Amino acid sequence: MRILMIGDVVGKLGRQTLTRLLPAIREEQNLDFVVANGENAAGGFGLSARTANDIFAAGVDVITSGNHIWDQNDIYTYLTTDAPVLRPLNYSAQLPGRGWIVVRDRANAPIGVLNLQGVVLMPQHLDNPFEAADRVLGSREAIKPLAMPIVVDFHAETTAEKGAMAWYLAGRVSAVVGTHTHVATADPRIIKGTAFVTDLGMTGPRDSVIGSDPETAIRHLLLQTPGQRNVVVSGVAMLNAVVIETDPQTHLAVSITRLDRFIELPTCVWYNRSRATPKSSVRRSTSHYGTFLPRPRPHPD
Ligand SMILES: [Fe+2]
Repeated sequence: MRILMIGDVVGKLGRQTLTRLLPAIREEQNLDFVVANGENAAGGFGLSARTANDIFAAGVDVITSGNHIWDQNDIYTYLTTDAPVLRPLNYSAQLPGRGWIVVRDRANAPIGVLNLQGVVLMPQHLDNPFEAADRVLGSREAIKPLAMPIVVDFHAETTAEKGAMAWYLAGRVSAVVGTHTHVATADPRIIKGTAFVTDLGMTGPRDSVIGSDPETAIRHLLLQTPGQRNVVVSGVAMLNAVVIETDPQTHLAVSITRLDRFIELPTCVWYNRSRATPKSSVRRSTSHYGTFLPRPRPHPD
């Protein structure tokens, strides 16, 4: 099976990039299945039903997520539907949704997708992700042949936790890919039949600080105040992903290859995320990125 796993889709620009690029990539790469992390798809913060539908319409089969999955109000209801959207398994069982799903690709072959969140340097206090994985996959001591390809999106901050998870699941799943940092890493490799890359990167604005306007990111870190956070919604965008090929008999990985594309979308506009920002504080930017605009409607996407 040929599987594309796409890094965090950030805001409108990320969704537009998917819509523009993914149909051709599906064909060109002869893909059977596509997974994308969508936790930043709604204006950079969370996933809504509408933005999830945009991602599915672009050609994604399963959407994974992470700590931002809870940011939009309607996601709580949406996660109770049959839509193939995952939230990390190791959140409380009292929350809606699921972190593990078995679905079928376009040739009707089964594939499992598991979504976990790391606990190192993450603000949430979640169940141990290693033990959560064992609850789905069985114990590490009793490795059994895979009945189908299984891919894991491990949404975590640190390279070490992601690397440790890859070694922990090595030989038990087809792939472990890291998400969350929005920075693509150049270390794709296969560990005991399990494809691994520390971080997929992101699908969104290249000229940004992990999706945000550089000036507001600098201001936030320089002044150490909450400030406004703007997500870049046009300009040069990138799609960061990996293509994983699995063996039809063992379902373990035979290859993992980075796939990184760029596209330029016109007319750069900033949307102001902060509803509390008074109008008088909105300023015209002198940078080449474009103009700061007030938040045009309740949701910036
Ligand atoms: Fe995240």
